[in-house]
Amino acid sequence: MSVAHSVRNILRKISTELINCGIEESRLESELILMECLEVSRSKLYTMQEYELSESHMSSANEYLHRRLHREPWPYISGHKEFYGLDIMVESGVFIPRPETELIVDTCLNIIKSMSPNHQIKIVDACTGSGAVAIAIGKQVSSAQIYATEISDSALKMAKRNLYSHGLEGRIEILKGSLLEPIESDIDILVSNPPYIPSQDIENLQPEVLHEPLAALDGGTDGLEIINELMVQASNKMSRPGTILIEFYPEQSTALKTLADQLLSPCESYIINDLYGDDRLLVLKLL
Ligand SMILES: C[S@@+](CC[C@H](N)C(=O)[O-])C[C@H]1O[C@@H](n2cnc3c(N)ncnc32)[C@H](O)[C@@H]1O
Repeated sequence: MSVAHSVRNILRKISTELINCGIEESRLESELILMECLEVSRSKLYTMQEYELSESHMSSANEYLHRRLHREPWPYISGHKEFYGLDIMVESGVFIPRPETELIVDTCLNIIKSMSPNHQIKIVDACTGSGAVAIAIGKQVSSAQIYATEISDSALKMAKRNLYSHGLEGRIEILKGSLLEPIESDIDILVSNPPYIPSQDIENLQPEVLHEPLAALDGGTDGLEIINELMVQASNKMSRPGTILIEFYPEQSTALKTLADQLLSPCESYIINDLYGDDRLLVLKLL
C-alpha cells in the first residue's frame, strides 16, 4: 500500500504542479526539491520511493514548491549552482553562473598553457558576480595574479564567500569598482561575462531570469554599452601582446568585431561558438 506522503506520491504531486505552471523539466525539478529536503543524492532518492516524508520535510517541500511556482530560479532556493565542476554559492541579488560561460574558462586555460612559464601572468575577471569564472581559473592556475572586479555589493559579498569556501582568498583579489577602474595596467588576460542583453529584450526573458539583478543583464540600447566601455578601458590597461575574452549575445558578433577594430587596433579577433552552435565568445589578440 502506498503512503500518502511517500517520496513516490510527493514526486508525482510536485511534478504535476510544476507542469501545470508551465515549468519544463518538471520531473528533474521535483527530484531536486526532494533531494534538497531529504539531503540525499538522486541515486539514494530512487531507493526511497516508499519512504514517508516527515512533517518538517513536507513543510520544506511545500515552501520550495511555492517558490518555484512563483518562478524563483532553483539555485536561489537551493543556494548553490554547479559551475565548471565547482559548487558556487548564490542568492537573490547575485547573477547565477551559466554553463555557456564555462567556455571562457576553457579558452583562458588553453591560452595560459601556450604562454611562457617564466612570466607571472596577470589575469582580470571584470564583472565577476559570484566569482565563478575567477575561481574556476584560480583553481587550475596557481602561479597567476588574479583580480576580479564588480560593482554590486551583494555580488561582492558572495564572491568573497565563494573565494573562502574554495580556499582561494590569498590567490584572488576581489575589488569593488567599475570594470577595470580598480586595476593598474599590464593586464595579460582579461576575461568578462558582462551585462549584454539589449534593454528592450529584457521583458521577454524567461520569468526565472527576471528574478536576477537587472544590473547583471542590461547592456543598454544595443546591449553593447558595457562592452564598449570595457574595451575603452582595456585599450589603456592591457599588455601587448595580450588577450581579451568577452562573452556576448549571438547577434552582436559583427558589431563587436567592428568595435574591437576601432578601439583596440592592432588586434586579431575570432569567435567561438557555444554548445548550441551560437556565436558566444569573442577572442581578441592584441598585437
Ligand atoms: C552577466 S553577470 C556575470 C557574472 C559572472 N561573471 C558570471 O558569469 O556568472 C554580470 C555582472 O557584472 C556586474 N556589473 C555590471 N556592471 C558592472 C560594471 N560597470 N563594473 C563591474 N561589474 C559590473 C553585475 O553586477 C553582474 O554581477
